[in-house]
Amino acid sequence: MNNTTHLLLNWYQDNARNLPWRHTTDPYRIWVSEIMLQQTQVKTVLPRYGQWFKVFPDIATLAAAHPDDVFKQWEGLGYYRRARFIHEAAQQVMANFNGTFPTNFDDILSLKGIGQSTAGAISSFCFQTHTPVLDGNVKRVLSSWQNESLIDKQLWQLAQSWIDKTDTPDLWNQAMMELGATLCGAKKRDCSACPMQQVCKSAFEEPVKKASTIKVKNVYWQVQLFQHEHNHIWLEQRPKNGIWAGLWSPPIIELDKQPTHQPDHIHVLTHRRLHLYISNDHNKPTGKGQWFKSWEGLAVPTGIHKLFEQRVNSN
Ligand code: ADE
Repeated sequence: MNNTTHLLLNWYQDNARNLPWRHTTDPYRIWVSEIMLQQTQVKTVLPRYGQWFKVFPDIATLAAAHPDDVFKQWEGLGYYRRARFIHEAAQQVMANFNGTFPTNFDDILSLKGIGQSTAGAISSFCFQTHTPVLDGNVKRVLSSWQNESLIDKQLWQLAQSWIDKTDTPDLWNQAMMELGATLCGAKKRDCSACPMQQVCKSAFEEPVKKASTIKVKNVYWQVQLFQHEHNHIWLEQRPKNGIWAGLWSPPIIELDKQPTHQPDHIHVLTHRRLHLYISNDHNKPTGKGQWFKSWEGLAVPTGIHKLFEQRVNSN
């Protein structure tokens, strides 16, 4: 079988976006980029990436940080579970690996928040191992090449067989992700510009559809705003698990029924559509919250920020 990996690699050399994590093999810098990029677009990650290292220049500083400060640096990236995991993983590195990021694949995989695909990315970028990345984009590219929807086991085998054919597994993984993020999109494809036309059994056809397994559930949340004479706001920390875990928010009451009036804001997450309703409460707050002069410096969910922007704009 002839080796066509050079087609993609040559294309990547000429077309790769210039992204900061592509100019380093420092495991800490690669690790942070891969976690940030797990569920968040490149354009959202870029402004937060450089900032992160000003606050947490190394793994030891991150491990020793207060959880609130880690959450704060995660603001706007969403899926805050990742912030808790990266903090815990930094502590794992200090405790189990003498403060040095592990070089062995299974050790990397043992860290909180790092699955098979992210471990594959980190290991190949930092240590040139033949360990494939298989994120949503790469799955779509491989399924397109085969012109069929494949199950994960088949996709892993296929991804492995491709990466085994190249001498530069790091560039191969980057190139696969780049193709999935640019020419071979979920909604739009540009087959005429694609270097892998001759490999791709679905070139110039409709993209292979992935059966969506995600069900979005509607929830109705009343956001309690308490009045305070000095314009302070009453915030409490969300529970450790669930939506917006660990972030600061006004108290939220989940309503059993959809209210008859329009929500003040709708915030959409992967599995939930949050209908947010502001409720002005004139009683004294009870429970475990605190008064704050402002929420500057606190990690507040993007949905709550948006809700307030909405309110300011409509006044
Ligand atoms: N998504 C996940 N990892 C990435 C990377 N290294 N470059 C661009 N997008 C990515």
